[in-house]
Order: sequence, then C-alpha cells, then structure tokens
Amino acid sequence: MTVALAISGLQKTYANGFRALKGIDLEVRQGDFFALLGPNGAGKSTVIRILCSLTAKTAGSVRIFGADIDRNFPLAKSFIGVAPQEFNASLFETPMQVVLNQAGYYGIRRPVAAARAEEDFARLGLWDKRNEQCRTLSGGMKRRLMIARALVHRPRILILDEPTAGLDVELRRLMWRFMTDINRRGTTLILTTHYLEEAESLCRSIAIIHRGELVVNTATRELLGRVDLETLVLELAAPLDQLPPSRFRLRRVDATTLEVDVRRETLLNAVFAELEQSAIRVIGMRNKTSRLESLFMGLVQGNEDSTRAAAAALSAAAGD
Ligand SMILES: Nc1ncnc2c1ncn2[C@@H]1O[C@H](COP(=O)(O)OP(=O)(O)O)[C@@H](O)[C@H]1O
Ligand SMILES: [Mg+2]
Repeated sequence: MTVALAISGLQKTYANGFRALKGIDLEVRQGDFFALLGPNGAGKSTVIRILCSLTAKTAGSVRIFGADIDRNFPLAKSFIGVAPQEFNASLFETPMQVVLNQAGYYGIRRPVAAARAEEDFARLGLWDKRNEQCRTLSGGMKRRLMIARALVHRPRILILDEPTAGLDVELRRLMWRFMTDINRRGTTLILTTHYLEEAESLCRSIAIIHRGELVVNTATRELLGRVDLETLVLELAAPLDQLPPSRFRLRRVDATTLEVDVRRETLLNAVFAELEQSAIRVIGMRNKTSRLESLFMGLVQGNEDSTRAAAAALSAAAGD
C-alpha cells in the first residue's frame, strides 16, 4: 500500500491564540476517495491550507507521497492540486489565463497547458466562459475554475475544499460525476464536506473532524457496517390505541405511527409477521436516523452529550 498523504500530530494555533487543530493524525492511501467531514468551524480548511502552505502549521508533520512539506516543499507541492473553498484568482483575468498562469509556476509548456485547460473546461462545463473575465462567472463557475486550475499539473492528489457547498442539485451531480471520474482514472481524491450523505455515498474513507480533533477515521463501509442500530418508522393503515406485545423494541409515536429499533441481523420479516398476527397493517416504512447520522447531528448542533455518547458507541463498535 502506498501512502499518498500522511499527517502526524498536526497542530495549528492562530495568531489570536485560537487552537484550530489540536493534534491530527491522518493517513490517506493512494487511489482513495477520502472525505474529511465536519461541521463549519471544525478545522477542515485549516488542514487544507496547511497542505498547500497558505497557512503555517504550529506543530506536526505532513508528508505527501513521502515528501515532507518542510524539507522538500517543491516536490510535495508537485504531487498535490488544491481547490480552495474561496475563489482566489484575479477577477480581471479569464479562466484560460488563470489556468495558464498556474501552469507557468510548474514549468509546463504553454501548448500542453492549453490543451489540458481546454479538456478540463469542457468536462467542467466552463468551455463557453473560458475567455470571459472571471468577474462575469457565477459562484459555481468560479468553484469549477479553481478545480481546473488545481488540475493543470496533473497532480497525484486532488484536494477539494467544500466543492459542492451551496451548489444546486444539478451542479452537485456534475461535480460528483467529475470527482468519481477523476478518481477512477487513478487520482487520489480528498474532499472536505459538511454533508454527511455526500461523504457516505461518494467516498471510500471518512474522517470526522470536530473542534480541531479527529473523532472518527475509517472506511465508509466499515463505519456504516458497524453502525448497526437503525430506527424504522412504520405508517399504519388504521389507528392503534395500544401497543401489541412484542419481542422487538416497538414504540407508539402517534395513533398511526410506530417506531422500531432494528439491528443488522434483525429479520424484518419477523417484525412484520408479529404485527400481522396482531392484525396491524403497515402501509409505509422509512428510515429515521442511523447512529452515524445522530453522531453527525450531535456535532453540528454542538450537542456535547449526544456527540460523546455516539462517538463512544462508534469507537466501541469499531474496536478502537
Ligand atoms: N485566520 C484565523 N484566525 C483565527 N481563527 C481562525 C482563522 N481562520 C480560521 N479560524 C478559526 O479556526 C476554526 C476552524 O476554521 P476552518 O478551518 O475554516 O473550519 P472549517 O473549514 O471546518 O469550517 C474556526 O473556529 C475559525 O473561526
Ligand atoms: Mg472550510
């Protein structure tokens, strides 16, 4: 296994004394599709800014394909492309100029750079705008331009800071397809997001960061697999006064709604068979929340108790 990114003991204290990162350890494998997930203010962008030296770290080390960012920054930098959360190119240049300038920093020949830019503009839906001034681009277009710029030196790792925040559904889908495609072609992809379902459906690995600390770091499949308790909401055909006797954890929410907690191994047939015996007919069913979701909601709402409980439950389940 080749390690694409190794972060160890990473700390950041800003000039005003604020401790944004309290010691982060993280490893991303080559080829991975990795989510750094966390609510606003968790420290995601701080990590990303350190990786591309927009911010100096206070302590710790970062290696990119073995190259230490302190000792061998040019090499480390050549391996990564970073699309920042905020647009930071000139508003009076065109997308083509922005990408060609960036290529210049890497010593890429102009015809090569122009061909790459054209390819990426087409794939990102920016083709029509490539020769317009950036100030005429929408927010979503600016975001995509940051990605095209990050890709011009064809980095081994592409890092995207909140690539889909605030985008409409259609654009978000385009972004998902683009990222998946880039990753399939062999680029290690790291994105930050505060959308749980995005990390869950798109990424193979998830690290959850909260207030400058990593609370979870594992494979998505493992995380979802271990989080085995789910609550189902059952909609009944007819009102119900009293709960029937049950071997399952059945609760009455209102006259026509029941909730039941099920584990991975619970046979849903058995639940339904039991209800059937009591002449209770179910006409609808949906998932309420998974434990993963309650963990994340706890983080977002700053609900310390539920966060701690869920984090404890998760790490106990994951055996770490
Ligand atoms: N330049 C700065 N000076 C002081 N505090 C900062 C600075 N930049 C970010 N912070 C604080 O550090 C924390 C983490 O910020 P950030 O990394 O941007 O979080 P995220 O990207 O997860 O939303 C936040 O509380 C933020 O207010
Ligand atoms: Mg951020």
